[in-house]
Amino acid sequence: MSESSPNNDIRWSSRWLFVLAAAGSAVGLGNIWKFPYVAGENGGGAFVLIYLVCVGLVGAPIMMAEIALGREGRSSPITTMAKLAASAGRNSQWSIIGWMGVIAGVMILSFYGVIAGWALKYIGVLASGEFENAGASVVESTFNGLLASPVEMIFWQTIFMVGTIWIVARGVSQGLEKAIRWFMPLLFVMLIVLLGYSLRSGGFEQGWQFMFDFKWEDVGPGTWIMALGQAFFTLSLGMGTMMAYGSYVPSEARIGSTVATIVALDTVVAISAGLVIFPLVFVNNLDVAQGPGLMFVTMPLAFGQLPFGSIFGSVFFLLVSFAAITSAISLTEPAISYLVEKYNSSRWRVAVGLGFLCWLLGLGTVFSFNIWADLKLAFGLNFFDLVDQISSNILLPLGGLLIAIFITWKLPRETVAGQIEIESEPIWSLWKVVTGVVAPVSVLVVFLNTFVPFF
Ligand code: TRP
Repeated sequence: MSESSPNNDIRWSSRWLFVLAAAGSAVGLGNIWKFPYVAGENGGGAFVLIYLVCVGLVGAPIMMAEIALGREGRSSPITTMAKLAASAGRNSQWSIIGWMGVIAGVMILSFYGVIAGWALKYIGVLASGEFENAGASVVESTFNGLLASPVEMIFWQTIFMVGTIWIVARGVSQGLEKAIRWFMPLLFVMLIVLLGYSLRSGGFEQGWQFMFDFKWEDVGPGTWIMALGQAFFTLSLGMGTMMAYGSYVPSEARIGSTVATIVALDTVVAISAGLVIFPLVFVNNLDVAQGPGLMFVTMPLAFGQLPFGSIFGSVFFLLVSFAAITSAISLTEPAISYLVEKYNSSRWRVAVGLGFLCWLLGLGTVFSFNIWADLKLAFGLNFFDLVDQISSNILLPLGGLLIAIFITWKLPRETVAGQIEIESEPIWSLWKVVTGVVAPVSVLVVFLNTFVPFF
């Protein structure tokens, strides 16, 4: 990034910074922790294929829409929506999209902090060397020990949340941008090393089959909504994060190619994580459907077998924690930008308040793994699952649906065309059909299929 060079350079560099920030938001626990465990619980291949379709047909267009709206409005998502609706002569209630996003962000961050806390703790656990040549039972009992201790989980959750809020309060710092430049490539390298290991582990074929063999009979009642929710979650869509980030995008950056890069990066990381984890599950006779602990049991097993595995493993969890923190920061951005804008209050006060709220709500997730483990709040779900499902599977797709409808049917064409530069008429029509019809109808059909019996 050199200010003195010709315009071309400055442009490129800023677009690149945006790609980094957006990829930093997208790539997180959703890819490495959530994707494999949700795929494992939902039949593997059946889930993965539907997820990929959702990413391409629903996720990518909605990401374009969010960034375009953000760059057009250049404010917090709530204000952007109100402003754009007003200037197009539409109902000011469209700002509800921003409000829903704030609520979804709080809910997601509440459990995100807890899981990221586990990753933080595992930096040290791996470094201690206790998993060297360990069998599945050792690794499992260490993890179960963590789950059984609310005090320990709260300790790590608190450290993660304090770190996140500290960075948010200071404003997204230069330091963080530099860190992303390093750890993103490092995370890739680490995944490639691990892929090499799982390729030779003896379970690769079985893992591959589990992930990519699509059988209709594996598609259960929940598969569609879980895959759709996961697509939104992993791409950071439906709650204004990309809108908030989009408001900082330089005017010259092309949204289409930028989105293609982010979506590709995010998908590669998720699929790689799956290809590392599933072979290890089968080789070690673990349960694919064991749930949120999947990554914390399989990865340490692999590191226990690798040369220098304790160091590698410790670095791996450090990278995961980094990936989690850049995502966590982005979860707060819609709310923070609005509160700062509206009340003109200091970033510190707002960030601390929001962080405390998320931390408090996160205690429910902590207890879901121990003292409240048997407490089913609704639909047979515990606190954590309920918060996760309401936010990821309902609020995010609903937000995305409204965003897609708004940009295609409620804004004048010139406004949109100024952001999403499409010269050829057929491609414009294609964009409009995908964003304005395919994406929202898909969300609607999945909703009906899930919530309306006998649809
Ligand atoms: N995408 C992140 C992940 O995969 C999580 C995340 C960050 C997110 N910001 C978001 C999810 C906004 C939904 C909406 O871990």
